Amino acid sequence: MQNFEYYTPTRVLFGRGTHQKVGEIIKEYGYRKVLLHYGGGSIKKNGIYDTVTASLRESGIDFVELGGVEPNPKLSLVRKGAQLCKDEGIELVLAVGGGSVMDSAKEIAIGALDDGDQWDFSIKKRVPKKALPVGVVLTISASGSEMSSSAVITNEEQQLKRGYNSPLHRPLFALCNPELTYTVSKYQTGCGIVDICMHTLERYFSASPAAPLTDRFALALVRSTVEAGAVAIENPRDYDARATLMWASSLSHCDLTGAGRDTFMPCHQIEHELSGMYDRVAHGAGLAVIFPAWAKYLYKEAPERFAQYAKEVFDVPYDGTNAEAAALEGIARTEQYFQQIGMPIRLSELGVGTEGFDEMTDKCTFHGGRILPCYKELGKQEIMDILELCK
Ligand code: NZQ
Ligand code: ZN
Repeated sequence: MQNFEYYTPTRVLFGRGTHQKVGEIIKEYGYRKVLLHYGGGSIKKNGIYDTVTASLRESGIDFVELGGVEPNPKLSLVRKGAQLCKDEGIELVLAVGGGSVMDSAKEIAIGALDDGDQWDFSIKKRVPKKALPVGVVLTISASGSEMSSSAVITNEEQQLKRGYNSPLHRPLFALCNPELTYTVSKYQTGCGIVDICMHTLERYFSASPAAPLTDRFALALVRSTVEAGAVAIENPRDYDARATLMWASSLSHCDLTGAGRDTFMPCHQIEHELSGMYDRVAHGAGLAVIFPAWAKYLYKEAPERFAQYAKEVFDVPYDGTNAEAAALEGIARTEQYFQQIGMPIRLSELGVGTEGFDEMTDKCTFHGGRILPCYKELGKQEIMDILELCK
């Protein structure tokens, strides 16, 4: 097992009613003025906004609002939010939403205490040294941002989506009530299921030495997500299925399922180019297209590992012989499952043709300056080959 750092400081309050405690929790920490950050309005339709603001008022927490975070959150709103925090003397950024809102909040929290160009952090030109605390009321199970060390932002002028890790990105607290996800559409639920699986699969499929405990955690999490996902798609108000997805979302990307393994995430890197260039592409839907193609391209480099995945997650028979056949069957079952939960498995289903391949591969390799590591190193040509399999 490789050396690793495990730092997951987020305080999680999980279950029914937890979001009603938001004011009380913030008061407990002694913060008095917060930025209430949210997305395109779903929280106003489903009542979460009313509950959260009532809780803040009851606890005497003063708040300034900034809504309007779009899926694939934008740098311009982050800049606006950071300035607002400075002007208003904000002490904590409260994200009420999903990955887009949380990532926007994380970046605002850093920008609020910085006077330089915020984008420098995303392109790794500077490393952030301080941030306001971020609190979360989670409304969708997907990104794992509620416990993760990363934030992903799109620079709309450059059509570049970039993420980076920092211990400062771990939220102070996350209130996770699965009931809040009952109103998430089937499509977004499907995107979330894929994203949860991928955060752990990208760790499981890294070319690292054995880490058996971590690998068992990983495959158990993916299998549980696959099973609960199928139930939640059929019955969006199934509490236990929604609860499994929500906890899996948090654990999948908090580093537990990758301890002792590399976590480079090549499919995520390719997907960020896709949704960075085509704003309409949801992150999870992009991953549903890219992962099977990536797997078909690479499975022969580590057939046993793919066969084990097929066996543990999809019950594909595998007795230690003919790993390649089991691996291929596992990839086919993955595609069938993605289709079953309403996800695309080809770029054509996303309305994306081949016209952007050159630009995407160029950006993904930092114009020739980086190679994506894994069982096989992926440069521009290899990424192009994978995109061809996505058509
Ligand atoms: O905008 P609102 O009104 O909030 O609506 C959202 C949005 O349209 C809606 N939604 C959320 N909760 C809902 C709801 N609709 C009804 N009822 C609810 N309870 O769902 C839509 C998608 O929301 P979004 O936040 O974009 O989804 P998700 O959580 O999948 O986040 C995606 C973003 O996270 C990034 C992705 O790249 C993408 O930008 N990621 C962040 C990561 C991290 N920070 O660790 C890791 C991931 O790999 C990922 O890259
Ligand atoms: Zn993801």
